[in-house]
Amino acid sequence: MDLELAGKVAIVTGGGRGIGRAIVAALAAEGATVAIVDRDNVDRAEALAAELGQAAAFRADVSRSDDVAAMVEAVTQRFGKVDILVNNAGTLSRKSIIEDSYEDWDRVLRTNLYGCYHCARAVAPAMIARGTGRIVNISSIHGRVAKAAMGSYCTSKAAIDMFTKQLAVELAPHGVTVNAVAPGTISTEINLPLYKSTAPADVALQQATLKKVPMGRIGEPEDIGRAVAFLASGKTPYITGAILYVDGGYIAEGTPRL
Ligand SMILES: NC(=O)c1ccc[n+]([C@@H]2O[C@H](COP(=O)([O-])OP(=O)(O)OC[C@H]3O[C@@H](n4cnc5c(N)ncnc54)[C@H](O)[C@@H]3O)[C@@H](O)[C@H]2O)c1
Repeated sequence: MDLELAGKVAIVTGGGRGIGRAIVAALAAEGATVAIVDRDNVDRAEALAAELGQAAAFRADVSRSDDVAAMVEAVTQRFGKVDILVNNAGTLSRKSIIEDSYEDWDRVLRTNLYGCYHCARAVAPAMIARGTGRIVNISSIHGRVAKAAMGSYCTSKAAIDMFTKQLAVELAPHGVTVNAVAPGTISTEINLPLYKSTAPADVALQQATLKKVPMGRIGEPEDIGRAVAFLASGKTPYITGAILYVDGGYIAEGTPRL
């Protein structure tokens, strides 16, 4: 399908590895020029940009508004405009709400939620002025379903869901759509050690997770890349405020199977 992304300029945060990398590849495959933004994996972002050609790497910490403003300015200088923003950069803390340190709670909320807020605020005025734009936020099934020992993460993703809907309502009159893609468990570097492990406790956890997925497998980063490209495309002008679950049926079923 031609997603009408030729000539479009996209920013993908956290694009150096994992799901972000697959989003970058999906957008570039459809003809978009991509600014690959990362904080810790800039070398990998640079290598990916060199591989793709119509792309460049930019360093920014999305939890800092000054960093984000400078990054958006640099992308605009380089490519002339920003048509698409994908807020993908994310982090987590594997602790319950009461066990988590204030520092970790702050780090997760500042990266996941404030990252979306800083980036959206930095790109939206020019999108409004041009009367067009696409913003896609990466949420999670855990914005809707709580998970033990993931207190700050689940809280941040639920907040991203409402941020998505609120911003969609505010920007709808200006021709800018705002949607979220909410992945289930995806095969990336944060999950691979667990999914490759043969230790009994890890195998038990793998099986417990897979039992909750009607398709019986975890997802691939490319599953998310394709969904984001669709919502970022010219084919979806009437979809806004949506949360698209890409999860092998996890949310549809709702409760773990026995
Ligand atoms: N992997 C999963 O199973 C899964 C499931 C649901 C949602 N998600 C979400 O998808 C997104 C990507 O996940 P992933 O598995 O690819 O993670 P990952 O850790 O493999 O990659 C995240 C990237 O974001 C970058 N990053 C982190 N903090 C940043 C910051 N403050 N500023 C700029 N860049 C920063 C990292 O350097 C890294 O390159 C996250 O928002 C995550 O919550 C992942």
